[in-house]
Amino acid sequence: MTDTHTEKVSDAVAKLYDTYPFPPEPILDEPPPGYNWRWNWLAAYNFCTGMKPQRQNIRILDAGCGSGVGTEYLVHLNPEAQVVGIDLSAGTLEVARERCRRSGANRVEFHQLSLFDVEQLPGEFDLINCVGVLHHTNNPIRGIQALAKKLAPGGIFHIFVYGELGRWEIQLMQKAISLLQGDKKGDYRDGVQVGRQIFNSLPEHNRILKREKERWSFENQRDENFADMYVHPQEIDYNIDTLFELIDASGLEFVGFSNPGFWNLDRLLSKAPELLERAQNLSERQLYRLIELLDPETSHYEFFLSRPPIDKADWTNDHSLLTAIPEVSTCMDGFPSQTIFNYDYKIVNLSDAEFTFMQACNGKSTVGEILLTMEFSLDGVRSLQQQQLIMLAPA
Ligand SMILES: C[S@@+](CC[C@H](N)C(=O)[O-])C[C@H]1O[C@@H](n2cnc3c(N)ncnc32)[C@H](O)[C@@H]1O
Repeated sequence: MTDTHTEKVSDAVAKLYDTYPFPPEPILDEPPPGYNWRWNWLAAYNFCTGMKPQRQNIRILDAGCGSGVGTEYLVHLNPEAQVVGIDLSAGTLEVARERCRRSGANRVEFHQLSLFDVEQLPGEFDLINCVGVLHHTNNPIRGIQALAKKLAPGGIFHIFVYGELGRWEIQLMQKAISLLQGDKKGDYRDGVQVGRQIFNSLPEHNRILKREKERWSFENQRDENFADMYVHPQEIDYNIDTLFELIDASGLEFVGFSNPGFWNLDRLLSKAPELLERAQNLSERQLYRLIELLDPETSHYEFFLSRPPIDKADWTNDHSLLTAIPEVSTCMDGFPSQTIFNYDYKIVNLSDAEFTFMQACNGKSTVGEILLTMEFSLDGVRSLQQQQLIMLAPA
């Protein structure tokens, strides 16, 4: 793969996003609503290591930041962080700058820079976010390696790339549009128009149309989304095998998928305990492959990598747990009420004892000190920690 080829792809990608800055979320005069825990350093670090990080004055890189929707959250959700956003597309960066300016997200700087040239930025980053970008480059391995070099030891790296199984109909539609565009390929407005005409014409029970209606049509009302999905000049879709080739090439450690609920075989084979037992002989990767084969809905993979050395907590030790300082998670909604939304916006009903314990978490008292004042077990504390309702800072 030559550099000229990389440049050609980058130019085509930049042209797409100059035409259709993405994501097209409206710009607000206030911080964006709610939270995404993957962009909250405390919650993401806690997910990756089981404990609260020691520092919050960190550096964050949003690689391929697009119109700055994620970048804006990264600034607002991490009040001590300095954030850098890079992107190929000047048009998209203009929207990102305006978005952050309007909502007062001022601890951020933007650069028009390819992730292949990220070494030009000074220093290292504690958190790198790269959502929806690597699969739009012609050499994701080179891209992930360039970014991995900028990850500080003990840092974490959140990645989102497309999955081929759940995007099968999209791929077919992309190819169909491309055929009909002929030498107008690269004219993205024409591509959107051709795509819309196809969908308007396909018979009701057509598989590609059905999938579009079920899964994507709500967001695809906006041309920016439609173009990003169907007329992209560069896309590489992964399966578990190729995904782990990419991860292995990064030289970093795989921490886990950031949507772990999906990667649970029990939800598919709970009626066949004998098969669940057999599956215990599979490696972690084989298990993931089995899950995606049985539930081929994966249209993307989202996961965390880390750069060793990174400490991971072990709360099975009673002494460590008793001397840790608990805090209520920053990613939840409704607390202090006994019915809350957790980090993933799922409703959780806290028991009386859980609720009382969480109310006593003041960021100063240790678990041991709090337990002296109430009836609650160490296993109860462990369960709150595993549910990411509290964070624990080791002594
Ligand atoms: C689908 S958008 C994702 C935007 C943002 N990360 C988000 O998820 O909201 C992909 C973005 O990656 C940028 N991009 C693609 N290849 C790039 C590269 N080699 N270097 C930097 N940015 C790139 C595009 O310009 C585009 O803005």
